[in-house]
Amino acid sequence: MKKLLIIGNILFLGTTLILLYILIFAGTVPVTKARDNRNVVAYPDDLKALVLSEMRDYLEVIHDINTGLAENDPNKIIVAAERQGNASLLDTPKRLLKLSPLACKKMGFKGHHLFQAIADSARLHFNPATTQRQLADLTQNCVICHRSYRIK
Ligand code: HEC
Repeated sequence: MKKLLIIGNILFLGTTLILLYILIFAGTVPVTKARDNRNVVAYPDDLKALVLSEMRDYLEVIHDINTGLAENDPNKIIVAAERQGNASLLDTPKRLLKLSPLACKKMGFKGHHLFQAIADSARLHFNPATTQRQLADLTQNCVICHRSYRIK
């Protein structure tokens, strides 16, 4: 019995040491991605922070739209989508437009128009299937831009 306990403890200690080794040494090897051929857009720190916080808000709006769909609540959809609709374009700093490639700007504008379209059609005549179709068009725009660009 005593022998078994000693062997058990040795095995446990051995496993712990191996795990510690992996955590401390092997765990620091950086992950390399097979290929990343996205175009780089360079923004100063303030614009980068602004763009990324806008992006996070897009995700929140999409979440609210989905919740509105699940709860059959067009009002939730309208309020959320309008937050990133056409009016939000007025807040875009001119510097950001200057520094962004044309194709990137076009996709940016398209996204705001698609948010606006979701709000408008939910207000005019709410049809969940239409909202869902519009949401798919919107997220397709997100995906295409994410495949094409990254920020430095
Ligand atoms: C005009 C191009 C463009 C469009 C359109 C776009 N994004 Fe992005 N998004 C980017 C870029 C560029 C980054 C930074 C990626 C990087 O540097 O690796 C980013 C980053 C993000 C991030 C990470 C934010 C952070 O804090 O790091 C989220 C979330 C995101 N986008 C959500 C969305 C969603 C949702 C949509 C669609 C409604 C969308 N984006 C549309 C270009 C775009």
